[in-house]
Amino acid sequence: MNIMIMGSGGREYSMGRMLSQEHRVEQLYFAPGNGATSSLGENVAIDDYEALADFARNKDIDLTIVGPEAPLVDGVVDIFKARGLHIFGPSKAAARLEGSKVYMKNFLAKYDIPTARYMETDHIDEAFAFIRTLPTPVVVKADGLCAGKGVIIAQSHDEAKQAVSQMLSGKSFGDAGKKVVIEEFLDGYELSMFAICDGKDYILLPAAQDHKRLLDNDEGPNTGGMGAYAPTPLVNDAIYEKVKTRIIRPTLEGMQAEGTPFEGVLFIGLMVVEGEPITLEFNVRFGDPECEVLMPLMKSPVSELFYKAATGDLSNLHVEFKKQYGVGVVMASRDYPYSSTEPAEIIVDEIVHEEVSEHAHIAYAGVREEDGTLYATGGRVLVCVGLGNSINEARERAYMLCGQVHFAGKKIRTDIAYQALAEA
Ligand code: AMP
Ligand code: GLY
Repeated sequence: MNIMIMGSGGREYSMGRMLSQEHRVEQLYFAPGNGATSSLGENVAIDDYEALADFARNKDIDLTIVGPEAPLVDGVVDIFKARGLHIFGPSKAAARLEGSKVYMKNFLAKYDIPTARYMETDHIDEAFAFIRTLPTPVVVKADGLCAGKGVIIAQSHDEAKQAVSQMLSGKSFGDAGKKVVIEEFLDGYELSMFAICDGKDYILLPAAQDHKRLLDNDEGPNTGGMGAYAPTPLVNDAIYEKVKTRIIRPTLEGMQAEGTPFEGVLFIGLMVVEGEPITLEFNVRFGDPECEVLMPLMKSPVSELFYKAATGDLSNLHVEFKKQYGVGVVMASRDYPYSSTEPAEIIVDEIVHEEVSEHAHIAYAGVREEDGTLYATGGRVLVCVGLGNSINEARERAYMLCGQVHFAGKKIRTDIAYQALAEA
């Protein structure tokens, strides 16, 4: 089987790493990939979707997997499918679940799926009136894609009004902010759940937890995610059951009823409030760094899961996961998440501990390769992933590996998985 992965992050590296270990996978392509994916397969420097579809046809690519949201929202799946190519991801219409927060919230309301009380509007007076009815903090969200920056948790009504004014005037996020969602603040713990969907059926992966803030103790600015672990003991069978019956099933049925069946990864951002899972948001692709800890926990072939999902064939598939835990610690560059940092050489020590060499690995993200040397190119550079029979064991292995990876300005959180360890 020949497979192409679109994207260039640690998420795409981690899928490629698993696929490259499967016998049935012959050739792997990454479009565009990064400085380390080139050691797993071939990087392809084509960004035009039509040209990429031509490439897929010419190279007999059996399956294309789309990593990030932007190409999905742009409609890359529709372009590939129109040519009879297999591609794993939602159509442009279904990708609106992530592409428009207004669409997503209205969908949740229409199908009675639990979510925070909200209003959507492009009128400042309406927005201000609704804000006055909510207790503080108040959550203000720009409608469109803002690379994870479009959510403001306003501590006062004045701050919420200011955020709304800036969004509606186009000052903060341009067109993406010309409509806003205002919603009540939910106080609980956050989870990331992933359902691999084929339009009708789905396979639910073990629940993960991300760490969005830059600094220990969940302080500092929001980031794309500074570390993740799975499965999390913060989820019990009752919560899984509620997520399946109250959120995933009605979402798949609702999307079918809308005439836009959902194929691909349904990423449910959940807040659990007093044991009740409430939908914060949907994304239509894997989380990063959640994907980096979930992929190595897969026992069944990843290629089969994605291929069957892309061809509407999940109903009889049985997927097994390792009875282990994964912990991933992100190593970011000095100026993340504010600005880019000048490239820095990455040095990985000779790993002599079997503990680390056998049970930990690196998923590379923001890296460039030059004459056999890897350079950190800014942002989130890589993820050190440890596996183990307990969260503690997996975490120790991830941090041991972190100690053996060096580049100027490297930055990590030291408390990944703290909520799980507090629970134990
Ligand atoms: P979103 O892009 O909607 O996931 O929002 C980004 C982050 O803002 C989430 O991961 C939460 O940490 C936080 N957030 C969003 N909506 C709410 C809410 N209604 N209550 C509390 N926190 C929220
Ligand atoms: N880690 C959260 C995300 O990928 O959006």
